Amino acid sequence: MPRIVDLRSDTVTKPSPEMRRAIYEAKVGDDVFGDDPTVNKLQERVAELLGKEVALYVPSGSMANQIAVACHTSPGDEIYCEAGCHVYNFEGGGAAHFSNVMFNTIEGINGAYTANQVEAKLRPDNHHFAPSRLIWVENSANRAGGTIFPQDEILRLRNLADNHGLGFHLDGARIWNVAAATGKTEAELADPFDSVNVCLSKGLGAPVGSLVVGSVELIDRAHRFRKRLGGGMRQAGIIAAAGLYAVENNRTRLVKDHKCARRLAEAINKLDSFSVALETVATNIIIIDTTPSGLGGIEITARLRENGVWGTSFGGTKARFVTHLDVNDDDIDYAIEVFAKVDKLPK
Ligand SMILES: Cc1ncc(COP(=O)(O)O)c(C=O)c1O
Repeated sequence: MPRIVDLRSDTVTKPSPEMRRAIYEAKVGDDVFGDDPTVNKLQERVAELLGKEVALYVPSGSMANQIAVACHTSPGDEIYCEAGCHVYNFEGGGAAHFSNVMFNTIEGINGAYTANQVEAKLRPDNHHFAPSRLIWVENSANRAGGTIFPQDEILRLRNLADNHGLGFHLDGARIWNVAAATGKTEAELADPFDSVNVCLSKGLGAPVGSLVVGSVELIDRAHRFRKRLGGGMRQAGIIAAAGLYAVENNRTRLVKDHKCARRLAEAINKLDSFSVALETVATNIIIIDTTPSGLGGIEITARLRENGVWGTSFGGTKARFVTHLDVNDDDIDYAIEVFAKVDKLPK
């Protein structure tokens, strides 16, 4: 079989034999009755890691985001977020559909924006305007290249939220990568926020699952929204066991993914056909610019794929490559060879 190095996303990982054993041995119960011991253990452990009161297990990051939006807002409210973020761009208009809210987007730099930028956009308390309700941060920022939102700016945003009575939410789908890259604990990163969602099925390598984390009161509301969205699962310990295994075993190893990403990014950046803004390669995501090749991201990802290296075109001249649990140093060597080969192909 020809070799394939799948760098489309960190969601493509397959459960390891040890994770499958944890699934096999999982103690289960009916989680809609709150009876599943493995789900309960996972929720307690993630709440503890994030330094929040409680957590709620849900099927996906998108559902976690939609539940968070619903918990913080009423129809007609406005949310402040960075223009490239997941909840605004990639959830099928879910926030408009389920919560009837508006987004006021901020053009950030590398997925981050400033408290001053939000302050300049806040609506006066006047019947002409949508009520300003929630500030939304994504850390790391997927579309920007796994970049890290500066923590001092997050603290300024917290102050702004306090001064204006706004909620403050973190889409921490990849907060584990931020913790591994910065040396800060997940709890330190989550501390300024009222609520956080985290994913188990990305860098941590579980097959499925996310959690919404926050106060007892907020998660009580989240429970009702999960029910409304059909996200209550029964013997969910079967999948929660994989999540628990991932949380306990796959967090610290993320630094390896970051090293692989940096090595690959530096090698790609040396080639004539591509450029990578190396300062954006802070975690496990590489965004390449194909402009020097004279070809678009679609053509370049097609050529790489013919040679066994899979990435995701963002359209235009951008494409994304993500390192993860199922990619090792040899795979990165191979990916570097393939990029070099595509670099030399006639344009
Ligand atoms: C930052 C971020 N939030 C949320 C999600 C949604 O997660 P899911 O694919 O589990 O719905 C993603 C998915 O890539 C993401 O990158």
